[in-house]
Parts: sequence; structure tokens; C-alpha cells
Amino acid sequence: MTAGQDHFQWKERFALGDERLDTEHRYFFHLINELYLAIEAQRGEQVLAALYAALRGYTEIHFRDEEAYLAKVGYPELQQQILEHGRFLQHLKEMPMAAPGAQAALAFMRDWLIEHILGSDQEFVRWHQGRGSRANP
Ligand SMILES: [Fe+2]
Repeated sequence: MTAGQDHFQWKERFALGDERLDTEHRYFFHLINELYLAIEAQRGEQVLAALYAALRGYTEIHFRDEEAYLAKVGYPELQQQILEHGRFLQHLKEMPMAAPGAQAALAFMRDWLIEHILGSDQEFVRWHQGRGSRANP
């Protein structure tokens, strides 16, 4: 792939129809992409550290936010979500900062994210929407 290209693009097919989740997921891809490009371009340690910190900070906020939201609406699969989020965070914490390990770790995280969005998050949105229509017949 050519340098400078976006490798981690959010796509319309990832949209869940929940504006808040979709916006957060889109930003997730953006942060992963930024870090990937910086590693590929062999940017300095400080740049990489700042981008890594942004990704890690956002991940923690997003998961905390999402889990609080799921808890608030009484989602029965919340524990499963917490487990999956924990696995992602673990990978992020352990990721190496140099190529090629760094790119491999980010590719893993992108695939995890896609699977999570299209799997667990989509399940939640379906559940939430179905529940909403039952609550307001
Ligand atoms: Fe999630």
C-alpha cells in the first residue's frame, strides 16, 4: 500500500443507526489510522507517544461511556461487552511502538473493531430498537 493512504477507514456499512455510537466508532478509525500512518512514516517518538496516548485515552472513554449507556438501558449482554472491551484494551496496552509489530497490532485492532461493531454493537442496537418499539406501542 502507498504511504499516506488511509488504511483504516470507517465505512458506511459499519453504521448502526445510533448516532452516538456511529460518531464514536468513526473517530476510533480516525485515531487508529493516524497512529498507523505515523508509524509507517517513522515519525519521532514524541509524535507516536502523543498519538498513542490519544488513542488509548479515547478507547478508555469510549468503552466507559458505552458500558454506562448499556447499563443505563438495562442491556442483558453488558458483561459480554465488558469482556470484549477488556480484550481490546489489553492489546492496546501491549502493542509495540515499532514496525512491523505496531502495524500488525493496529490491523488486529481494526479487525476487532469491525467484528465488534458488526457483531456485539449491532446486537445491542437491534435489542435497543426492539425494546423501544415495545415500550411505545
Ligand atoms: Fe462495544
